[in-house]
Amino acid sequence: MSSAPRAGGREPAQPFLSDIQELRRRAREHISQGAVTPGYQADRDTLIKLLNEALATEIVCTLRYKRHYFMAKGIHAEGVAAEFLEHSQDEQQHADQIAARITQLDGAPDFSPDGLATRSHAEYVEGDSLEDMIKEDLVAERIAIDSYKEMVLYLGEKDPTSRRLMESILAKEEEHADDLANLLEDLGSR
Ligand SMILES: [Fe+2]
Ligand SMILES: [Fe+2]
Repeated sequence: MSSAPRAGGREPAQPFLSDIQELRRRAREHISQGAVTPGYQADRDTLIKLLNEALATEIVCTLRYKRHYFMAKGIHAEGVAAEFLEHSQDEQQHADQIAARITQLDGAPDFSPDGLATRSHAEYVEGDSLEDMIKEDLVAERIAIDSYKEMVLYLGEKDPTSRRLMESILAKEEEHADDLANLLEDLGSR
């Protein structure tokens, strides 16, 4: 592509695609490493690393929804802001559940702000308008859904407890994505 990317590194013609592909590639990276690394200990290290990436994803999603909640303005903002707030609380709860699971596995949950955005699969995008915010949240949810699905497959029978936790979080992210798609539709029809 010859045109210079806009601030934020996005091509106007392809608003989300390249970022998502890169994020998905990164999400898959550790899973494929896990598949080729033999031994329980290595598997456990991979599992804790994956859970820490999911933890970072949840923290970034909490922060993004909080920002959107406080910045939602305009005549349609009230209902949307309430949804942003509810989602931010769900993501916070997911972060806590994942952190608790990491400690059960004798790992250390990584809450460091250094590198947080890099560890997260989803991005922190502020968005200019209410519609932008909803779209960015939908992209983030879709990325979380894809990477959590892969985690669930990877976990399989290796660690059923972690798998069930990620399945329950995945179900909630699907609900979030559905809520956002409905909000977008409502906004478009007004
Ligand atoms: Fe979440
Ligand atoms: Fe979510």
